[in-house]
Amino acid sequence: MNTGLQSPTGVWWKPAHRAEKIWVRIAFAWCMVLFAMMPLWHLKGAQNPAGIRARVDPGAYARRAREFIDAYKVGEQNGFAVVEPPAGADIYLIAQMWQWEPVLRLRKGVQYTLHLSSLDVNHGFSLTPVNLNFQVVPGYDYALRVTPTAAGEFSVVCNEFCGINHHTMVGRVIVIDDTASPAPGGGR
Ligand code: CUA
Repeated sequence: MNTGLQSPTGVWWKPAHRAEKIWVRIAFAWCMVLFAMMPLWHLKGAQNPAGIRARVDPGAYARRAREFIDAYKVGEQNGFAVVEPPAGADIYLIAQMWQWEPVLRLRKGVQYTLHLSSLDVNHGFSLTPVNLNFQVVPGYDYALRVTPTAAGEFSVVCNEFCGINHHTMVGRVIVIDDTASPAPGGGR
């Protein structure tokens, strides 16, 4: 009988085959590449949040966002305000069970500072079909610097389970291209 304390008798192992040694070296080298990519991608991947964040009272956030909506509202879609902010503006999106407010109408190639916060529970900002995801947390105002690179209509899907109607929580971002002529959809 063999236990962990007693070596088995006889020659129970063979030296590793050359092919196996080569394979172990390749696997180890690839591990090192992946390991190096973690910090490198963080620095070079251009995917980091802007680092703009602050604690915010949900009521204060709602007031700030509604001021923004009132200032730049250009219409309505399905009962939600459509807001067209000027270039470079701080823009606000309110997440709450189970809606995104307002509908943002942005310009291609123009940078905005997009603020995200929730008035109740955790939600997930997921811009589709672009694969862009961000947590939306009550009590915190997180801002992202965004520059739309494609015109069209995008859906904001909630990807954090937030209750019985989570699946209906879909918002909208419209990106218009000023340089295209005539403007798709007849412009405004
Ligand atoms: Cu909001 Cu799920």
